[in-house]
Amino acid sequence: MDKMQLIALLLVTVTHTHANYSAMQAVLSQKGLQKVSHWLTDWLQSKLSTIKLPEVRGDVDIKIGKVHYFLHDMSIQRCDLPEPSVAFSEGTGISLQVDGLSIAIQGRWDTYFGIIHDSGWFNLVVYTINLNTVLQLGSDNGHLSISTAVCSADVGSVQVHFHGGASFIFQPFVTMFSWKIRDGIHEKICAAFEQRIEAIDGYLAAMPDAINMDPYVFMNISLTDSPIVMYSALGLNVTGEFYSINFPSEPPFSPNRFQMPWQNNYMLSVGTSEFCINSAAYAYHKSGVLYILIKDDMIPKTYPFHLNTNQFGILIPQLPKFYPNLTMKVLLYASDPPFFSFTEKAINIHLFAAAKFFAIKADTEVPLFRLDMECSFSTKASIDKQLLKGVLQMKNLTMTLGATEIGDFPIAPIKNVVTFALTKKVLPKVNAQLKDGLPLPVVKDFTLKNSVMTIENGFLTIGTDFDLLH
Ligand SMILES: *[C@@H]1O[C@H](CO)[C@@H](O)[C@H](O)[C@H]1NC(C)=O
Ligand SMILES: *[C@@H]1O[C@H](CO)[C@@H](O)[C@H](O)[C@H]1NC(C)=O
Ligand SMILES: *[C@@H]1O[C@H](CO)[C@@H](O)[C@H](O)[C@H]1NC(C)=O
Ligand SMILES: *[C@@H]1O[C@H](CO)[C@@H](O)[C@H](O)[C@H]1NC(C)=O
Ligand SMILES: *[C@@H]1O[C@H](CO)[C@@H](O)[C@H](O)[C@H]1NC(C)=O
Repeated sequence: MDKMQLIALLLVTVTHTHANYSAMQAVLSQKGLQKVSHWLTDWLQSKLSTIKLPEVRGDVDIKIGKVHYFLHDMSIQRCDLPEPSVAFSEGTGISLQVDGLSIAIQGRWDTYFGIIHDSGWFNLVVYTINLNTVLQLGSDNGHLSISTAVCSADVGSVQVHFHGGASFIFQPFVTMFSWKIRDGIHEKICAAFEQRIEAIDGYLAAMPDAINMDPYVFMNISLTDSPIVMYSALGLNVTGEFYSINFPSEPPFSPNRFQMPWQNNYMLSVGTSEFCINSAAYAYHKSGVLYILIKDDMIPKTYPFHLNTNQFGILIPQLPKFYPNLTMKVLLYASDPPFFSFTEKAINIHLFAAAKFFAIKADTEVPLFRLDMECSFSTKASIDKQLLKGVLQMKNLTMTLGATEIGDFPIAPIKNVVTFALTKKVLPKVNAQLKDGLPLPVVKDFTLKNSVMTIENGFLTIGTDFDLLH
């Protein structure tokens, strides 16, 4: 490869990695890290007692010879894990410091001195284990990766008591045992820690890079960039693109670049770009779920207007002439994916819909005509007391006659009826609901608190505190 080729390759690589922007960004603050660390401590505390401890063999010199000892079947009886102090380590990851961990272990001992064999059980307490570590965060194939960058440990003191057999003979040598055991723990503690971290890393690497949101769509959650660790927060950029499960395909538009401001007053901030929402709209459209069949029996009996060809005669005079007194039904569907855009403080929604009208004649559907509509709405939205609230406003409605089996007719009267129905009937109902508020989507096992939403140009941000659901 010559130099030019190399430069070309580098350029391609660079543009390639920067051309696809993340559609979702998350920032975990120090406050959020503290919360996560608290859960991990509880979890570790419960896990520690199930750890299998390795056997220990060694010799003790008792002047008249060497006693060979063998400690085995050890189990952790008690473990006091103080809350570790965690902090972000700028540019690297997370520093984790445990001060004063103590562990009580019970096990069996065997000694061999020449042909003399003795055995019994023992109690061992290790006091003040201090652990100082720095975990490095990175990304590997779109997965979060974690490794041990720094680990140092020291062990305060060890107390051993031997029971059974001729253990009183060994008790005087306990200081020597203690010293050996202390050194053994000291040597192994970082190795054991690193092993745990490797296990977590393996778990992260094996995690799927997509999650199914419902039976129709999934979201790609692979990382687009390496995590960024600042002094006070950790930032993750996620692909955040939705796809249809049954008909996955790329939308005909690309991710917009955005940069969520980092906030420290919430545990977690999540930014979502227009592209994320629009890829979801595209995926749902691809999945073929954006339609509704409107039948006459869905309209309350007391309602003056019904889906009947005679009644439609007011709007379309020729209809009852072709098909007198027939029940109708309407298939309303998104002809194109809905399109969302975020401008400062408002969400704009653009809908492309078509309504196919049928007459029902002796149980068969007779197609009548199709109306094509474009409708735009704008909404001011906010989160108040964990409820999504807002006001939806209709901006514009255009309507054309897309196809007709009953000849041409003016659609202005229909448009007036639809506009009236939307602005005077549908929107007031929707807005009454939005005023009371809609519950935020819940994330399994978590509760959100103090959530705040801000709408910016091209993206929206939700800042929130979180807790485990008990
Ligand atoms: C962006 O990503 C899409 C799919 O994720 C891919 O088809 C496209 O080639 C990418 N574009 C660039 C320039 O990397
Ligand atoms: C998610 O996106 C990444 C990067 O664009 C890609 O490598 C991966 O195959 C995608 N995963 C799925 C399940 O679409
Ligand atoms: C996320 O992407 C934005 C825009 O490309 C960039 O400015 C920011 O530094 C990225 N953050 C992380 C954590 O990679
Ligand atoms: C229309 O049909 C219904 C039954 O399908 C009947 O009860 C009603 O009298 C009819 N109306 C007219 C004007 O023919
Ligand atoms: C409504 O949309 C049509 C067609 O897109 C456009 O010509 C018209 O100016 C729009 N009206 C308003 C009030 O935005």
